[in-house]
Amino acid sequence: MPAPPVLLGDQLPLPRHTMAAISRRLDAIERVRVARESTPGVPAVLRPQLNWREHDNPTGNPLYDHYRLLLGKSPEILNQFRLYAHFTGYPLRRLLDTGGICEPHWLELYAASIDGVPREYRVNPPPIMGEIGVMIDGVIVNPDTVVYQERISLLYHAGVFASLAAIATTRSPVILEVGSGFGALASHIKRICPTATYICCDIAESLAFAATYLTAACPDHPQEVVEDGAVRPHGQFAYVASHLVAALERSQVPVDLAINTLSLSELPDEQIAHYGSLVSRLLADRGVFFEQNQDNRHVGMGYTKDILSGYFAERVTLPQGTQGSADLWSRARRLPAPNAR
Ligand SMILES: C[S@@+](CC[C@H](N)C(=O)[O-])C[C@H]1O[C@@H](n2cnc3c(N)ncnc32)[C@H](O)[C@@H]1O
Repeated sequence: MPAPPVLLGDQLPLPRHTMAAISRRLDAIERVRVARESTPGVPAVLRPQLNWREHDNPTGNPLYDHYRLLLGKSPEILNQFRLYAHFTGYPLRRLLDTGGICEPHWLELYAASIDGVPREYRVNPPPIMGEIGVMIDGVIVNPDTVVYQERISLLYHAGVFASLAAIATTRSPVILEVGSGFGALASHIKRICPTATYICCDIAESLAFAATYLTAACPDHPQEVVEDGAVRPHGQFAYVASHLVAALERSQVPVDLAINTLSLSELPDEQIAHYGSLVSRLLADRGVFFEQNQDNRHVGMGYTKDILSGYFAERVTLPQGTQGSADLWSRARRLPAPNAR
């Protein structure tokens, strides 16, 4: 029996109070973006670069068009938000033409990604905002589900969630994701580790996507857009724009888990070094940095892993995923004990 499709008609509409909360956060993020543009002398390393900048963009990245669409806050766009969230390289919109059905190899990858992974570590995107695909064992599966499940599975097998659970017995674990896209990984990790403080750090325009999605997908968790000051961890989602990372330094909050997937490899060497240095300074003694990036040297980019190796003492390479190779980096001698497979 083929897996049943989940299409636009199967989505739960966003309640009015969720739309209102999204609207407030979009306003705050737009203030942050405008402040960046109107403040002279913001260093290049803190600003959008290469295919993440608005003008002279070589790849035709639709981010800025979609950002302006989001700012319009229309219920139609917000209820189909996922069709505008282009962060993994797979436009979900493509599944509108195929009745939710993706190329068969994705389903094989999905089966492989959940092999040996307990149910509580399975990603389960809610049927909202245009999350289309096919239903497999209660989960909407599409290519985005597959790549986020792979990341969760890698973290599970590496023992990272067990470490976070141990920390959570005494305080809120602190997670920092650099380049958080539309917030998918954040939503899945927060379900696994609900008391974590999850800091999304990205260019302001992309933070608008994460804040919109997480407001709708995780309505029970507190959220704050950091406009100045510092981050005080209390189990919230905190949105910190890339030009305001000084707020993280000021916070002096050791980070238990830092994450970067598919984004440092798209940035200039100076920005990779900037984040390598920032993460190594913010990481707790036993903290780890989960990083999964492509090798983009063939298109003239620097090699993320070579640059990062200057900032971390330990590196453990994890099994190969669909999108780039993954490593756990740490300053300390001790990495978490992996789960037995
Ligand atoms: C290809 S997307 C990947 C998103 C997400 N990590 C994922 O795997 O789905 C690259 C991400 O890097 C972010 N990014 C670009 N420039 C950045 C910068 N200067 N600082 C932080 N993040 C940046 C983009 O906005 C985007 O969210």
